[in-house]
Amino acid sequence: MTTTRTGASAKDIEYHYDVGNDFYGLWLDDTLSYSAALWEGIGADVPPAVALAQAQRAKLRHHLDQAALPPGGRLLDVGCGWGALLTLATEERGVREATGLTLSRAQLAHIVALDLPGVQARLEDWRSHVPESRYDAIVSIEAFEAFASPGLTTTERVQAYTEFFSACHSWLVPGGALSLQTIAFDAGVDADGPVGAFFAGDVFPASALPRLTEITAACDAHFSLTAVRSEPRDYIRTLRSWSARLRAEQEKARQEVGADTYQRYRLYLKTCEVLFLRGDVTVYRMSMRRRRRPLTLTG
Ligand SMILES: C[S@@+](CC[C@H](N)C(=O)[O-])C[C@H]1O[C@@H](n2cnc3c(N)ncnc32)[C@H](O)[C@@H]1O
Repeated sequence: MTTTRTGASAKDIEYHYDVGNDFYGLWLDDTLSYSAALWEGIGADVPPAVALAQAQRAKLRHHLDQAALPPGGRLLDVGCGWGALLTLATEERGVREATGLTLSRAQLAHIVALDLPGVQARLEDWRSHVPESRYDAIVSIEAFEAFASPGLTTTERVQAYTEFFSACHSWLVPGGALSLQTIAFDAGVDADGPVGAFFAGDVFPASALPRLTEITAACDAHFSLTAVRSEPRDYIRTLRSWSARLRAEQEKARQEVGADTYQRYRLYLKTCEVLFLRGDVTVYRMSMRRRRRPLTLTG
């Protein structure tokens, strides 16, 4: 399959993710999940560190449920971070094979060191991925934001996302499912204005947020959309938890990455919180069932 080269490159990804595993370990939860947790049912009485870990595991279980991973099945995680989902799938779901794709060498090294049975992490762009055989389930949690570059037209973004869904369709068994989580614009924000520029310049180089309509237009030919949850409050609580943990570890964090990088992360986490609070952005959890045959859409 030929795909269009857009979105974050390995160099762009490493700018953000290879700041250092020890640095991220200071403020993420013990699974090193780097995406919005799922806080439903977690009360204010639960101690903060326990609450974040519980909410992150709830998020991972949600995606494995939505992707309908059967026991003994084969799982693909596109954008696997430090392997939180691969680990939980192995420990709790009896997965036979779990493959994770990342563009970060630091993340790959971390997963390899975990030495989990049946887990294979690959330093590979999804555009180059060729599975040994088809997967029973695919999950992708907050990697989608890196699949299109800033400055593209809506049509170009839909084209880039369509290529992703088309690839997932070709990798899944008939009846297989995809569970996707992505941050997206949720208001009339100018994608190429200062907010987009801040993120694409200082935080996540060459990344750009999608809009819901672009995702639905892009997936329609290959997947039936079975559920969409918009959960901005999940991200606000996650970001507050990360900010509090980073602040509490500021001395160690400055030693790890220097004062400037520490300050940049404090600013980025707070800016994200404001954007979610204002309703400019949201986080979607989307469940998709593979269509038997791709639809030919006209118009
Ligand atoms: C925000 S992190 C999320 C990690 C993980 N899913 C989690 O929830 O903790 C984004 C991940 O997507 C990966 N990624 C981004 N673009 C990618 C691409 N084109 N191919 C494969 N992985 C990609 C990055 O390397 C990183 O692991």
